[in-house]
Amino acid sequence: MKTRVFSGIRPSGKLHLGNYLGAIKNWIELQNSAHQSIFAVVDYHGITTPYDPKTFQQQIMDVVLDYLAAGIDPDKALLIRQSKVPQHTELAWLFNTITPVSWLDRLPTYKEQLEKSPKYNHMGLLDYPVLMAADILAEKSNLVPVGEDQMPHIDLANEIAKKFNSMFGQTFEPVKAKLTEGARIMSLQDASKKMSKTPQSGKVAAGQAGDESCIFLVDTPDTIRAKIKRAVTDSGKEIYYNDEEKPAISNLITIFHLLSGKEIKNIEAEYEGKSYVDFKNDLAEVVVEFLKPFQTKRKEFEDNPKMVLEILEKSEEEARELASKTLKEVKEKMGLL
Ligand code: TYM
Repeated sequence: MKTRVFSGIRPSGKLHLGNYLGAIKNWIELQNSAHQSIFAVVDYHGITTPYDPKTFQQQIMDVVLDYLAAGIDPDKALLIRQSKVPQHTELAWLFNTITPVSWLDRLPTYKEQLEKSPKYNHMGLLDYPVLMAADILAEKSNLVPVGEDQMPHIDLANEIAKKFNSMFGQTFEPVKAKLTEGARIMSLQDASKKMSKTPQSGKVAAGQAGDESCIFLVDTPDTIRAKIKRAVTDSGKEIYYNDEEKPAISNLITIFHLLSGKEIKNIEAEYEGKSYVDFKNDLAEVVVEFLKPFQTKRKEFEDNPKMVLEILEKSEEEARELASKTLKEVKEKMGLL
C-alpha cells in the first residue's frame, strides 16, 4: 500500500517546540519515504479560536516559513494553505450530512477549547474535526503524523470514512496516526498542561514576549535562556525521568533528549548529584544550538517572499487537482452529479 501523508498546523501563533517535536520532526522523516506528502497551514481551523484578522496573514506566513526552515522540502512535499484548496471545505460539508452531532460534542478538544474561550461556542468549533477529516480524506491520505492530542480526531476521521463507505460504497481507506516520541511536550510553567500557542482569554497573546510557557522556534538565545531558567521544577533535588513523580523535570529531560540525541539514561547519569541550575543551563544551550541553523534558514526564506509564494501556489494547484478527483467520486456516489 502506498503511503500518503497529510498533516497540518493552525496559524494561531508562531510554532513552538511542542509543534516541532510532536509533529514536524516526524514530517521531515516521512517526506523522504512517502509516496505523497502534503503539509498544510490550516487557516480555516485557525479562525475557530480567537484571532486578529489584521495579523492573520502574517501568522499564516510565519507558519509557512517555520515549515520551510524546519526542513519541509518543496521538491518532496506539497506545502499548502488550507483555504486555497476549497475542495476540503466542500468535502467537510458533505461529511457534515453523515456525521452525528453526538460524535462531536463529546470530544475532549472541543470541551478544552470551550473552557479556554467560552465566548467562542459556535458551529465552527464543534465542526472542527469534520473539516480535519475532510483535509485528510480529500487528498486520500492514509498516514497522519500528529501529537497525541489529535488522536480522537483521527479516530473520528476513520468513523466518518467507515460510515461513508457503508452508505455509499467503498471510497476511503483507513487512516493511521503516527505519533512521535515528543508526542506530548508540556508547558514550561505547568507540567500538567501541554505546551500550547493558543491565547488564553485575557492573558498574553500567543507569540508575544512574556509568554513563558512555550519556547517558540524563533525565540532569541537570551529569551530561551530566560524561559528555561524560569521553568517550574518538581520538589526534591534529584534529576531523573519519572512522569508521575517528576512531571516537570521529566518534560525538560524529554526536550533535552530529543534535541541533543542523548539517551535519557545518559542524561540522568550526567546530572546525578548536580543541581537543577546546572541542568537548566545546559538544556538552554542545547535548545539554543538546535535552533541556530533553523533560524538562519528561516531568515533566508523570509528575505525571499516571492520564492515562498511560488512554492505555495504550485503546491496548492497540485493539491486542488488531487482533491477534485476525490470530490468528483464522492459527489457521484452521493447522487450530486
Ligand atoms: P495544532 O495546530 O493544535 O497543533 C499542530 C500539531 O502540533 C502538535 N502539538 C503538540 N505535540 C506535542 N506537544 C505539544 N505540546 C503540542 N502542541 C501541539 C499537535 O498534536 C499537532 O499535530 N487539528 C490540528 C490541525 C489539523 C490537522 C489536519 C492535523 C487540521 N487538519 C489534518 C492533521 C491532519 C491542530 O489543531 O493542530
